[in-house]
Amino acid sequence: MSKFPKDFLLGAATAAHQVEGDNIHSDFWVLENLTHSMYVEPSLAAVDHYNRYAEDIKLLADAGLNAYRFSIEWARIQPTRGEWVEAEIEHYRKVLECCHDNGVTPIVTMHHFSSPAWLIKQGGWENPETVGLFTAYCERVVKELGGLMEIVCTINEANMGLQIAALMRDMGKRPASDVQVGINMTDPNNIMLAMKEAGEAFGVDPRQLNTFISLRTPEGDKLVMQAHETARDAMKTLCPHLKVGITLSLHDLQALPGGEAHAAKEWDEEFSHYLYALENDDFLGVQCYTRKIFDENGSVPPEESAEKTQMGYEYYPQVAANVVRTVSKEFKGNIVITENGISTTDDKRRVEFIEGALDGVAACIADGLRVKGYMYWSLLDNFEWQMGYSKTFGLIAVDRGTQTRYPKESLKYLGALR
Ligand code: GCO
Repeated sequence: MSKFPKDFLLGAATAAHQVEGDNIHSDFWVLENLTHSMYVEPSLAAVDHYNRYAEDIKLLADAGLNAYRFSIEWARIQPTRGEWVEAEIEHYRKVLECCHDNGVTPIVTMHHFSSPAWLIKQGGWENPETVGLFTAYCERVVKELGGLMEIVCTINEANMGLQIAALMRDMGKRPASDVQVGINMTDPNNIMLAMKEAGEAFGVDPRQLNTFISLRTPEGDKLVMQAHETARDAMKTLCPHLKVGITLSLHDLQALPGGEAHAAKEWDEEFSHYLYALENDDFLGVQCYTRKIFDENGSVPPEESAEKTQMGYEYYPQVAANVVRTVSKEFKGNIVITENGISTTDDKRRVEFIEGALDGVAACIADGLRVKGYMYWSLLDNFEWQMGYSKTFGLIAVDRGTQTRYPKESLKYLGALR
């Protein structure tokens, strides 16, 4: 018998740039193709989800899952400022309809890291004008597709910019695996060249770039939250039935004796200082992959003997339940785990990770915590940003030569948990 309530959303997640392919109007496309790119390879055709979404959604549904989190690509809808491409809105209408046809609840992310290149050229997420531009894009989509939508994430991991800024500030002193996304910091010299080239490509001061190589300023951090709140309110005004929230990248922060202050400071940066902007949200999207340990000097690396995932951080399936419990002390609304997963070539280990994670989630629900869904990251092996295609998080493998799908045992396992 299932450990979850009947209406629990159990599914998997993707992001447009990582799976669709040919996202040519986006900032990442520019960054991937620089001479000194920090990307180990460009995304190119990705896993052709743009054309194969129906096959992918059917695989998810046939396995027994009832929710699919994916993102709409702003750069497709507005490849240049002021332009609206109706055909691309129609594309996402078909994706949404396909979810419904398969009995799958769509969870739509409006912004998952990638932005239109033109937006970055005019200052990106550090420019106050972006609040209005993002809101206009969300309104346009919701006006046309809102009737097919139910759950909406405005901005994915809105706190990631600050985490990357901290990593860049301390370059060399912390491992890149301190942030959960694939960042390639193997060659600091190359990073500097990449930033210079990116600055030229976007025509802005390299220190102002709001990309994976940028430093998000505290002002930019506030603007992102303003964009979230403004877009949320606008979408809900147009479509009051929508449940709108944001997603945050969170770690299970654990303190050794003496490390409490460091852990508390980090938690405030990752989470608590955003609480003001979440007050009117319908849910919080929690995204978590591992733990971080602190002693009196700050963060300490995992023990030598600890098992690591392909991403270099510790294998730690308890993270989902632990983060839900910590978040629930301060956030009293509904929680959806919008991402949790493991990058490994060993699918048995993935099954064990999912088992551990979901046992913990079921215990949270039994204790009365308001967890409404769990989206495994990711449905497909895909483009792990700067780390490229070698990191395999997927429930489905893809041969990118032929774009053939190979569902893994873990897909079956997850689907059977409902
Ligand atoms: C994230 C990301 C994904 C990453 C995943 C694995 O939001 O962190 O949404 O894009 O691929 O986290 O690193």
